[in-house]
Amino acid sequence: MNLKGRSFITLLDYTKEEIHYLLKLSAKLKAEKNAGTAHRHLEDKNVCLLFQKDSTRTRCAFESGAYDLGMGVTYLGPSGSQMGKKESIKDTARVLGRMYDGIQFRGYLHADVEQLAEHAGVPVWNGLTDMYHPTQILADFLTIKENFETLKGVHLVYVGDARNNMGNSLMIGAAKLGMHFTGVAPQELWPESSLIEHCEELAKSTGSKINFTEDKMEGVKGADVVYTDVWVSMGEAKDVWRSRIAQLHDYQVDRHMMNNASKKAIFMHCLPAFHGTDTEIGAQIAHEFGSEFSRVKNGEMEVTDEVIESTQSKVFDEAENRLHTIKAVMLATMTNDY
Ligand code: CP
Ligand code: NVA
Repeated sequence: MNLKGRSFITLLDYTKEEIHYLLKLSAKLKAEKNAGTAHRHLEDKNVCLLFQKDSTRTRCAFESGAYDLGMGVTYLGPSGSQMGKKESIKDTARVLGRMYDGIQFRGYLHADVEQLAEHAGVPVWNGLTDMYHPTQILADFLTIKENFETLKGVHLVYVGDARNNMGNSLMIGAAKLGMHFTGVAPQELWPESSLIEHCEELAKSTGSKINFTEDKMEGVKGADVVYTDVWVSMGEAKDVWRSRIAQLHDYQVDRHMMNNASKKAIFMHCLPAFHGTDTEIGAQIAHEFGSEFSRVKNGEMEVTDEVIESTQSKVFDEAENRLHTIKAVMLATMTNDY
């Protein structure tokens, strides 16, 4: 398998075999890390991490992953470069591509990361756009494999805003790898029909099944994985909170819902998650909307504190796996000498 020079923008660009290869490489790098075996395969290379939005996991995984691989790192935060304000994406790509061996981009428009990749001349990795979050999916699938030994035939149910970057990307990943995907949400929050149709087409050759329903108890019935994400994503206007809570409060993942899943079901969330009042936004939502929507009165939104803190919850394994999978993406796309 030779992925050298490739960008990693969406899983749609990668074959089933290539995704499996990245997952195997991730597991190998994880084992090496845990055994204390050095893997500084990219010494003398440097990467630039370009963030238009905030991040904890993605930034830290790219940064510590780059260090583990022996690389130098520059972090450019939402206000740390000329990009967008005085310099176009295209010019930024051509400048950074002359100085770095790889570029991570987290931003708003998916077209921006595509444009960077087109003009940088070095691999560009999508660390999240409004449309897709492909490095997260690798971490999620590694976590699922660790729990179920396989991906094929595993039934993943995504509950919540199913047309955000996570809903879209999980559906694509499932379709590519032969997992069953059910999106549980009000119909207006299902992905674009063209993307669903594309995934249904992919699913025909992998044995995956793609379904959507508004019925949460029917949707999670027998699920192996119950997955959710925030109701309001980065970059969305603050004033969507009330209507989104009204649409999704009844889809909060709680014990009752988990009890309808398979006995061995795990709970997953890409994080950050709202499950209490110990965050600014959690406290604010509880204060503003708690009397109108009782489910959010304690700052619990997409998942209850009980579920995310339960033994079924694998959210911190997922978070750790961001490191190993992101390292695999950087390594495989920057060299074939390892
Ligand atoms: N899951 C994820 O991408 O987290 P960050 O926003 O902290 O990077
Ligand atoms: N849908 C979320 C994912 C965060 C990792 C967002 O875009 O904010």
